[in-house]
Amino acid sequence: MDTALPPWPYPFWIAHRGAGRLAPENTLAALRTGAALGWRMFECDVKLSADHVPFLLHDDTLGRTTDGHGRAAERSWDELAQLDAGRWHGPAFAGEPLPTLGAVARFVTGRGLALNIEIKPCPGRDTLTGALVAQAVRALWQGTALPPPLLSSFSPEALRAARDAAPELPRALLSPLWRADTLPEARSVGAVALVLQHRAWNGATLAAARAAGLRALAYTVNGPREVQRLTALGLDGLITDEVERFADRPDAAAGPAS
Ligand code: G3P
Ligand code: MG
Repeated sequence: MDTALPPWPYPFWIAHRGAGRLAPENTLAALRTGAALGWRMFECDVKLSADHVPFLLHDDTLGRTTDGHGRAAERSWDELAQLDAGRWHGPAFAGEPLPTLGAVARFVTGRGLALNIEIKPCPGRDTLTGALVAQAVRALWQGTALPPPLLSSFSPEALRAARDAAPELPRALLSPLWRADTLPEARSVGAVALVLQHRAWNGATLAAARAAGLRALAYTVNGPREVQRLTALGLDGLITDEVERFADRPDAAAGPAS
């Protein structure tokens, strides 16, 4: 018999990188775009500036998604705040700044939206990032009636630090594959969910996750057939870039929007 699953207050559909395909990823412009389309939950990547301010950025370096260059972890927040994180996507987004986690918290809590914060430490900063992001989340969501953000990471070290800093926040282990140590690792971080690359989910891996009492989510699911396969399998959530194709809606769990 399956172990009881943890409560799951989150929508089925999660917009990847803050709905970051139609607008620059991991910015407030992306969140605004997704929210306007009716999305109710967003995934975003969070790391620390040199002076320990949590902010949104996917890469360790600044060159792909900003007009800066070099390593993000070597810049203070004052320096990072000057960068343009929108022009690379298109002229309509010129001047869009990198957002702090605090600005994102204000945006989502003000609108009753849910968040999946992927803790994405720069090299060598796993423990520091996990601890400081968890502390920030605890403070930023305190007093709201909303479900707390789901903290996820490929780094078990970051998740352990998050657990030690704010044990009440739900955690999810990210992994590109199902490995022999996937379940022991999920247990070691006190995870409530496993977020696997979508091809890693099948009947056997889902049954094993369920037996371990874990919710099951997949990234990054963009094809309608794969959406149907994973929905039929019984996953709890899908992270997608296709924010126009798979609009979030009450019956979304039945399958892709037509
Ligand atoms: O959180 C799931 C997904 O975002 C992981 O991949 O590289 O887009 O952060 P990535
Ligand atoms: Mg991510």
